Amino acid sequence: MNVMIVGGGGREHAIAWKLSQSPRLGRLYCAPGNAGIAAVAECLPVGAEDIEGLCAAAEEKEIDLVVVGPEVPLSMGLVDALNQRGIRAFGPNSKCAQLEGSKAFTKAFLARHQIPTAGYREFTDQKELLEATGLYGYPMVLKADGLAAGKGVVIAETEEEAKKAIGEMMGDRVFGSAGDKIVVEEYLRGVEASMLCFVDHNAIVPMESAQDYKRIFDGDKGPNTGGMGTYSPSLLFDDGLMERIRGEILEPTLRGFQQDGLDFQGVLFIGLMLTEEGPKVIEFNNRFGDPETQSVLARLESDLLDIFEAVTENRLAQQEIRWSAQRAVTVVLASEGYPGSYPKGREITGLSDVDSDVLIFHAGTKAEGGRVLTSGGRVLCVTALGATHEEAREKAFANVERIHFEGMQYRRDIGLIHRT
Ligand code: AMP
Ligand code: GLY
Repeated sequence: MNVMIVGGGGREHAIAWKLSQSPRLGRLYCAPGNAGIAAVAECLPVGAEDIEGLCAAAEEKEIDLVVVGPEVPLSMGLVDALNQRGIRAFGPNSKCAQLEGSKAFTKAFLARHQIPTAGYREFTDQKELLEATGLYGYPMVLKADGLAAGKGVVIAETEEEAKKAIGEMMGDRVFGSAGDKIVVEEYLRGVEASMLCFVDHNAIVPMESAQDYKRIFDGDKGPNTGGMGTYSPSLLFDDGLMERIRGEILEPTLRGFQQDGLDFQGVLFIGLMLTEEGPKVIEFNNRFGDPETQSVLARLESDLLDIFEAVTENRLAQQEIRWSAQRAVTVVLASEGYPGSYPKGREITGLSDVDSDVLIFHAGTKAEGGRVLTSGGRVLCVTALGATHEEAREKAFANVERIHFEGMQYRRDIGLIHRT
């Protein structure tokens, strides 16, 4: 089978690495890819949001399966466009992609199917929202309805902060049309965890759990990022919690998809808050998480291509999925200034000094004249496996220290437990 992956970050590198182990794989392409992905796939100079270009490339390269990494092309209807041309794709169609593309759509879905989540109200009128500040007390959770590259959520501690955020979102339109509708939510207290699930029309199958570290600095300080590191399995999960998640969240979600005619095929990423009352859904994403995928796929023993194919044929329930008992820890190396503006083009050294069993997934890198240069905010992901969580953690950090680029920043506390 010829496969094309869409995207060019650490998540797509992990998917490419895993797919390249499949004996059934023919040619592997990635659009646009990066310097690391180029070692396992042929990178095509087509942007991940160029729907027409991607469809044309899939036809030209005789692709049997397109795997879509990021959320934007899914919301733009890439899967629908490929299917119309008779090309199979792993990822939800645009109707299902609203589960990430619109917070209000997901809140209505969760409410309709009695799935535990924070109480909410939606607003399209700035004046009405200004009058409702403190609706659920403080902190006040304000969410731009649409896609905002992970930046559309504001947790305002005071009325002043809430009013400022409302002015920026609805008045100044800092998130463009994504902020024309605002969802206000009850503030949930607890610890967050990520649960990625394979989904087809008949089944929802959770992958191994993962813990993400979203803030830029140690101790969960500073602004939110795309994710600064992960580990898998989560140390917060036990069988009792998993049972509750299955019964209260996963099963009603699948039934809800079926009742609402949401023919989801792909990965549903459930952001959970583990509260005193039990697990609640913070958000749905409709794709693999980044950098959750790096830690989770590093532990997958089954053939990923078989799983992707089973999902697109609605055979997921019969598909065997095996996981390694090893533990995984992933540390993200980011550019100076990230998640704000950052320089590009800095040379990365030490990549050949890492242990042979440590995985280096490239996120924002570019090859130039035999050198590897930084080209993004998140630059590299270092994933180590170990028989114990501590062993994986120590191995990851020992290898991180062998890699250098000017201004490199990373969190030293990835793998340590934080309770917020
Ligand atoms: P989201 O993009 O919806 O995942 O929100 C980004 C981050 O905001 C989450 O990872 C949480 O840390 C926080 N957050 C979102 N919704 C809530 C909520 N209702 N209560 C508390 N924290 C929240
Ligand atoms: N790591 C969080 C995300 O992929 O959205």
